[in-house]
Amino acid sequence: MEKQAERLLELIKERNRKSNCKVLSFVSGKGGVGKTTISTSFAYILANSFNKRVLLLDCDIGLGNVHLVLGLDPSKNLKAVLRGSSLSEVIQSIYNFDVVLGFSGIESFEELESYESANLLLQLDRVVENYDFVILDNSAGLSRFTVNFSRAATETYVITTPEPAALTDAYAFIKSMYKLYGYSAFKVIVNMARSKNEGFETFERLDTSVRKFLGFRLKLAGILPISHKVRESSRRKTLPVHTYPSDAFSIGLKRVAQLETGEVFPERRESFVERILRFLKEGI
Ligand SMILES: Nc1ncnc2c1ncn2[C@@H]1O[C@H](COP(=O)(O)OP(=O)(O)O)[C@@H](O)[C@H]1O
Ligand SMILES: [Mg+2]
Repeated sequence: MEKQAERLLELIKERNRKSNCKVLSFVSGKGGVGKTTISTSFAYILANSFNKRVLLLDCDIGLGNVHLVLGLDPSKNLKAVLRGSSLSEVIQSIYNFDVVLGFSGIESFEELESYESANLLLQLDRVVENYDFVILDNSAGLSRFTVNFSRAATETYVITTPEPAALTDAYAFIKSMYKLYGYSAFKVIVNMARSKNEGFETFERLDTSVRKFLGFRLKLAGILPISHKVRESSRRKTLPVHTYPSDAFSIGLKRVAQLETGEVFPERRESFVERILRFLKEGI
C-alpha cells in the first residue's frame, strides 16, 4: 500500500487543483444515537433546502444501513468498485442527492489498503470535486476506518444523546482523536433530547470535561428532540425530513444546516483523499 499511496498522492498533487468541497463526518462513541438518521436527513436538507450538490457515503463497516433508510439497491456498492467497476456505476441518486453504499461490504480496514482500494480512493477523489458537500455516515466508535475518514474530514459532527453511556463514549471518542492526532474540529449534536434544557445540560457536561481535561472548547451545532415522527419514519423506511418537514426534529436539523452553509469555506491545501492517503502512509 505504501508505494501505491505515495504514487497516488503524487498524482493528486500534480493535478494541483482546488476543491471547495466540504467533507462532514458524522460519528458517535455509542451506536444507536441517530448518526444514520441525522446524516441522511442532513444530506436531504442540504440538497433540497439549500440547493447544494451532495454525496452521501455509507462508511459504516459491516452494519451500514443507509440503503434501508433510503430504500436503495444494496447490491450496487463499493465492493463492485474493488472488483473493477467504476465508481460512477455505483452512485445512486435519490431525493436530489447522490449516495455511494457499501463500505458495509468491506469487512476490514486492511481490505481497503489493497491496491484496488487505493484506486478506489483516487476515483473517489475525482467525484468529490463534483459536490459542495460529502457526508460520511460512520460506524460507532474508533475503528481505524472512522478515525482516518474523520481526520480527513473538514469537520466532524459528534452525535450524542443525554444518556450517560452515550456521553461517556462521546468524550472517549473526542479524547482519543485529540490525544492521538491533535484533531479538535468537532461540532456536537445532542439528539433525542426531551427538552432544550436537557440538551443544553448534556452539551455543557461534555464541553466542561473537554475544557477541563483536554483544554479546548466544543461547538454546539444543535439540539434535536426525541420525536415519535422520527421513529415512525424509520419504521416506514422514509426520511423524517421528507415526510414530516415541520416536525421539530426536521426544523432543528434545518437550523444546523443553516449554520453549516452560512460559514465561510476554509482555504484547503490538501484534498480529503490526499489526507486519507497520507494517514494510511503514516501507518497509524
Ligand atoms: N430524534 C429522534 N427521535 C426518536 N427516534 C430517533 C431519533 N433519532 C434517531 N431515532 C431512532 O433511533 C434509532 C437508531 O438511529 P440510527 O440513526 O440508526 O442510529 P445510529 O446510526 O447512530 O446507529 C432508529 O430507530 C431511529 O429512528
Ligand atoms: Mg448507523
